[in-house]
Amino acid sequence: MTLSIAQLIETHRGENFSLHERHLNSQMVRVLRTIGYDRLYTHAEGPYLYDGENNRYLDLLSGFGVFALGRNHPTVKTALKEVLELDLPDLVQMDVSLLSGLLADKLVKLTPAPLTKLFFCNSGAEAVEAAIKFARYTTGRSRILYCEHAFHGLTMGALALNGEEIFRQGFGPLLPDCDAIPFNDLGALEQALQTRETAAFIVEPIQGKGVNLPADDYLAEAARLCHRYGTLFVADEIQAGLGRTGKLWAIEHWGVEPDMLLMAKALSGGFIPVGAVAMTAHVMDKVFNRMDRAVVHGSTFSKNNMAMAAGLATLEVIEAENLLDNAARQGEAMVSELNALAERYEFFKGARGKGLMIALDFGKPTSLKLKTAWNLLETANKGLFSQMVTIPLFKRHRILSQVAGHGMNVVKFLPPLVISDSDRAWVVRAMDEVLEDCHKVPGAIWDLGKTLAGHAMKAKKSA
Ligand SMILES: Cc1ncc(COP(=O)(O)O)c(C=O)c1O
Repeated sequence: MTLSIAQLIETHRGENFSLHERHLNSQMVRVLRTIGYDRLYTHAEGPYLYDGENNRYLDLLSGFGVFALGRNHPTVKTALKEVLELDLPDLVQMDVSLLSGLLADKLVKLTPAPLTKLFFCNSGAEAVEAAIKFARYTTGRSRILYCEHAFHGLTMGALALNGEEIFRQGFGPLLPDCDAIPFNDLGALEQALQTRETAAFIVEPIQGKGVNLPADDYLAEAARLCHRYGTLFVADEIQAGLGRTGKLWAIEHWGVEPDMLLMAKALSGGFIPVGAVAMTAHVMDKVFNRMDRAVVHGSTFSKNNMAMAAGLATLEVIEAENLLDNAARQGEAMVSELNALAERYEFFKGARGKGLMIALDFGKPTSLKLKTAWNLLETANKGLFSQMVTIPLFKRHRILSQVAGHGMNVVKFLPPLVISDSDRAWVVRAMDEVLEDCHKVPGAIWDLGKTLAGHAMKAKKSA
C-alpha cells in the first residue's frame, strides 16, 4: 500500500496537540492551551486560515512573515508541481543548476546596483551566518557590530547578534567580538568603527522586535560611515524585505547601498525553506578566491530546485499582483484608521509602521481607575497589556496577531501583502471593539488580565 498523506491526516485528525505534547515541544502546547489558541486548522488560502467548522481567521502573523503572497498561492503551487513532474536532476552538487542561476539573475536585477552576486541557503539564520563569515574573510577583521533589540535568528552566530537577553541566556559562550550599539545612534556607530577592527555592521532596516523605524538619515549615513572605516554594511531584510514595507527592499525608502543584503522568509512563498545573501562581487570574489576554496562555505540543500522555482514564482506574483502598491496603500490606510481610534481610547497611543509592518503602541492611561488596572498588570509583567489585546482579538474576532517582543506593550501586525479593503475593515472594527472592552474595568477582558497576571507571577516565582 502506498502512503496517502490525505488519508493519514484524516485518520489522525485532531491528534496535533497530543502528538506534540508527547514528542515535540510540550511547553508550546501549554502556552497555546493557556491562552486559548489551541485551534485545529484544516485548510488555508490567501490571508485566511480555516478550522474544522469552516470558521475563517485573518492571519496578521503570516507565519512570522513568510506568507507575503498569502497561503497556498496557486502560481507557486503550479511552479512546484511542474518541478516535480519534470523529474529534474536536483542537488547534483558536482554541477551548477539552471534554476538557481535564473533566480540569481532575477534577484540581481531587483537589488541595489552594487549587488551582483548571490549566495543561497535554507533560512534567515543561515544567511546571517554566511554574512558573518563572508565579512570576516573579506575584511580580515573579526568584530561584528549589531544593534540593541536586534533579531537576526537563533543559531549560534546569529544569537551572538541578538539584542535580547532572554534568547541568549544559558547558551553561552557565544561568538566573541560581537558588540551591540543602540539603534538609530550614529555617534555610537562612528565611535565603534573608529578602531578599524569591525568587519561588518549588521542591521535590520526596521527592527522586527518592537517595529523600530530608523531616523530618516540613519541607514544611509550608517552605510557611509561603514565605508569610511572599511567596514561592510549588511542590511538584514529577512523580515522587512520582499515587499513588506511597500517597496521591494526596505532600504529603498532611504536610498541605501549595502555590501550585503540578506533575504529569506517570503522568498519561496512560504512553501520551501530558503535564504539568500546578495553581495558585491568584491565580497564573493574574496571568499571564493581559489579553486580549492570553491566549497569553503555552503549547505547541502541550498539551491534546491523546489526553493528556486518557488522563488521565481514568488517574484513574479509580487510584480503581477502589484503587491508593493497594495502593501503601501493598505498599510497607510490601516495606520491612519487605527490612529483615529487613539483619540477615543486612553490605553491606545497610536499605530505606526511602513507598509504592512505595523505596530500598535499601548501605554499608561490618564484616569485613575484605568491607571490602577494598568499598574496591576505592569507590576506582574511588563508587556502583559498587549497580550490582553491579542487574545480577545483572536478569540472573539478571529484575528491572529502577535506581541512585538518581550516586555513591551506593542502589538505587531504583519499581514500578507494581499489583504483587501474588507480585511482592513475587519481589523479596524475588531480593534475598536477590543479597545472598548479594555476600557471597561471591571470587565471580561480584565478577568483575563488577572489570569495573565497570575500566570506571570507564578512564572516569576519559579524562575
Ligand atoms: C530580521 C530577521 N533576521 C533573521 C531572522 C532569522 O530567520 P530564520 O527564522 O529563517 O532563521 C529573522 C526571523 O524572524 C528575522 O526577522
